[in-house]
Amino acid sequence: MTNDFNAYLKDRAKLVEKNLAKYVGKIENSPKVLTDSMAYSLQAGGKRVRPILLMATAEAFGKKAADVMPAACAVEMLHTYSLIHDDLPCMDNDSLRRGKPTNHKVFGDDLALLAGDALLTYVFEVFAQNGKVKAVGAENTLNALLHFANCAGASGMVGGQTADVYAEGMGAADAVSTRAEKLKKESKPLADKSLHYFMLPSTVKETTPETILNYIHANKTGALIRGSVEAGALLAGVKGKDLTLIKKYANCIGLVFQIVDDILDVTATAKQLGKSNSDKENGKLTFVSLYGLEGSRKHAQLLIANAQKALDGLKNVKKKNLWPLYAMADFFKTRTY
Ligand code: IPE
Ligand code: IPE
Ligand code: MG
Ligand code: MG
Ligand code: MG
Repeated sequence: MTNDFNAYLKDRAKLVEKNLAKYVGKIENSPKVLTDSMAYSLQAGGKRVRPILLMATAEAFGKKAADVMPAACAVEMLHTYSLIHDDLPCMDNDSLRRGKPTNHKVFGDDLALLAGDALLTYVFEVFAQNGKVKAVGAENTLNALLHFANCAGASGMVGGQTADVYAEGMGAADAVSTRAEKLKKESKPLADKSLHYFMLPSTVKETTPETILNYIHANKTGALIRGSVEAGALLAGVKGKDLTLIKKYANCIGLVFQIVDDILDVTATAKQLGKSNSDKENGKLTFVSLYGLEGSRKHAQLLIANAQKALDGLKNVKKKNLWPLYAMADFFKTRTY
């Protein structure tokens, strides 16, 4: 394998896409419009960084990419469902994704919702199939799946998306009211609830823009990236200190990914990104709205240094298979799309 990371990314994305098509092709007893809607978003391109990270992590700990392909495809399906729902009019209300009209613009809100539901459910069917791969086994697959499911749900991605939506307005220059405050006005049973109720778990005590932003980013985006890396490690049976270190790596790069997403929303064009940049219009609470561009870049740099340090400490790894994890951390910070 070449050390050219761009070629590596392209190669791996192709491999994932081939397998995604295979899985979608296997769905039976479904109206064609539903599988077409699923395939439309799944096959629209995208960087495929989550499945690539899952494979790269498993390989760093001695497995082959093919050994973890079902789980790799499953995390990409989960991510794609999250994008379809994220773009809906009731969420970010966006019209461009992966260089094409968003799913609901083509198939309607109802089918976009259902295609997301179907992808989310299929994730578990596909992921579980990894248990039948001898080199990985049922127990490692169960551990990885339990962990990934936790990262994807209320304790992770969905929790972060909830806070992201209700914090809308907090990032606006002209302090308009937040979406949470609007809901309080419209819904009597929720009228006396605090902002904390809408945006933070009980474990976070302070309701400041900083704590809310950290919760949103670590979860709406960080959780799936973390979940993908950690699933790769758990599928390979990693335990102890190495697991702690790879978790640290995953935490850092997951947060960086969203910081850079916030930066690109301001500095890149929709054409370059293949998606609408709507943070300002939606008054989103972002790293840029809270810390500015320079502050955001500095924060990302610090996190990347920590991620690389965590990799340096790994013990039971195949040294020659580690470079993609270093390169991925670097890519997360320097990417322009
Ligand atoms: C976009 O994710 C949504 C975020 C979590 C920031 P990606 O930037 O990975 O989107 P694709 O998969 O490449 O389209
Ligand atoms: C999306 O965050 C995170 C998820 C889809 C879970 P954003 O709303 O910032 O992602 P983009 O910018 O639309 O891709
Ligand atoms: Mg969003
Ligand atoms: Mg969005
Ligand atoms: Mg964004």
